[in-house]
Amino acid sequence: MQKSSIWLAGMFLAVPLMAPISLSAQSLLRPGDKDVVVRGAEIYAQQCASCHGKNLEGQPNWRSRLPTGRMPAPPHDESGHTWHHNDRLLFRLTKEGPAAVIGNNYQSDMKGYAETLSDRDIIAVLSYIKSRWPSHVRARHDRINEAQR
Ligand code: HEC
Repeated sequence: MQKSSIWLAGMFLAVPLMAPISLSAQSLLRPGDKDVVVRGAEIYAQQCASCHGKNLEGQPNWRSRLPTGRMPAPPHDESGHTWHHNDRLLFRLTKEGPAAVIGNNYQSDMKGYAETLSDRDIIAVLSYIKSRWPSHVRARHDRINEAQR
């Protein structure tokens, strides 16, 4: 009996202590971690650069549909809208692919990477992308993550 009330008191204490930890766990990306970013750059070159551009510049005229009716690959630098999406959505777009995330029979030239990349690799490649944004865009993206948790 006494044991369980001590345990309960411990639970109440643990809640305020744990809150900041679970909130910061919402940011998945590690743009400040050099090892993660180096690994992410390799993955980007192998898996993403062919469409999103060696320098994250995207495909030409990326705002206009291709003759197939699909969208070209947008840039991942600050001129695109990648940074408008929070970490979780970026993760899902990469893992599941835009078609699965958007639904409604949406057609996309980008596949989901669930079979090709581990979750860690997906986080690494997105961390690399974020590391390339200027610091004011990274700060805005941090605020988007905070607002959407
Ligand atoms: C075969 C071409 C192709 C490859 C390879 C590719 N993508 Fe894409 N990606 C696209 C296209 C096209 C879109 C636009 C979504 C749409 O409307 O179809 C897109 C959109 C995205 C978006 C959403 C961006 C936004 O602003 O909404 C993310 C995130 C993304 N790609 C990440 C990646 C990552 C990370 C890789 C490598 C692991 C990758 N893509 C590889 C074609 C590609």
